[in-house]
Amino acid sequence: TGSGSVLTARTQHAKRVVPGEIPQPSIPVNSHNEWDPLEEVIVGRPDGACVPQFTTEVKANTNEKYWDFYKKYGGTPFPDKHIEKAKQEVEEMCNVLRHEGVIVRRPDVINWEKDYKTPDFSSPVGLYSAMPRDILIVFGNEIMEAPMAWRSRFFEYRAYRSLLKEYFKAGAKWTAAPKPLMGDELYDNTYPIESIEDRHRLAKEGRFVTTEFEPCFDAADFIRAGRDIFVQRSQVTNHLGIEWLRRHLGPEYRVHELTFHDPNPMHIDATFNIIGPGLVIANPDRPCNQLKMFEKFGWKIVQAPKPTLSDDHPLWMSSKWLSMNVLMLDEDRVLCSKVEKPIIKMFEKLGIKTVQVDITHANSLGGGFHCWTTDVRRRGELQSYI
Ligand code: NVA
Repeated sequence: TGSGSVLTARTQHAKRVVPGEIPQPSIPVNSHNEWDPLEEVIVGRPDGACVPQFTTEVKANTNEKYWDFYKKYGGTPFPDKHIEKAKQEVEEMCNVLRHEGVIVRRPDVINWEKDYKTPDFSSPVGLYSAMPRDILIVFGNEIMEAPMAWRSRFFEYRAYRSLLKEYFKAGAKWTAAPKPLMGDELYDNTYPIESIEDRHRLAKEGRFVTTEFEPCFDAADFIRAGRDIFVQRSQVTNHLGIEWLRRHLGPEYRVHELTFHDPNPMHIDATFNIIGPGLVIANPDRPCNQLKMFEKFGWKIVQAPKPTLSDDHPLWMSSKWLSMNVLMLDEDRVLCSKVEKPIIKMFEKLGIKTVQVDITHANSLGGGFHCWTTDVRRRGELQSYI
């Protein structure tokens, strides 16, 4: 059984005694799904976030409404005042999490304004360390750095290395998936995207801005339900990346590829967010093409209500569907937005207690509560929910 393998890993860990050293009894990293009781979480930082250069992959992943913003400010920090407000909101979110009994960890503060050059490409800035969900994923006692697909995110792992070393020293398994070179071959520079119609057509044809030249993925395109991992081919996650992870995880896991009616897939957690054993919040604008499979599993799919955020509020890197990008504290408690009243009602109807925070300015950087966090430790074992 699943619990058997976890216990084996624990026992092996406890047995590896180095003379003169006290064996560590606890496992610092342990998370198998999105809803077991949360004990420790990494919360991102808005500090120093920079607007990426307006490259092909950025164009393909952003709303045309903001293209002028990117052309003008690409390579410089996001507006100061906005970042200050985001910082206050995220501090409040950390306090609320602590109040709910969760240990909160933060990435290092990094100067993202340094330009860099590898043998394959250059970038005027790094993006940020705001969204740990995009780059870190936990499978049991293993914490993995995703390879990423945006050039501005190539060195993002640097912000998490202090934490990763600490978890490693305390007994966690630490993996970095192979970094793509991110040379020109990884991107379809002729990717014809000028309008929403283009986006729909290309997504339907299964064409994305990243090619299959080498594996790439963002961790946030994967969502975990114990032995079953769900993923989408997106603008930043290619088939080779999915296959790399499938082989890495091996026969203990089943990696299912899902497709959605989505003109611009990037990160699955505002499209299909698994919030409990057999319980999913689905985005009504982006129906899943594999719903029959979930019916067979006997899972409950709840349609998220329409988000309410005003059109005037800048969302530079995402849609308004961040309203459903929530973080489960356990099966019965959810961290969600104070201002999104319809989804609060939906949770109440489901008998889930809402813990509410307003992170509207933090949302502008492209993420909701799920994106802003990586759950490092949840109390639970590896199980199958289907
Ligand atoms: N790219 C998706 C997911 C963001 C978390 C969206 O904009 O809805």
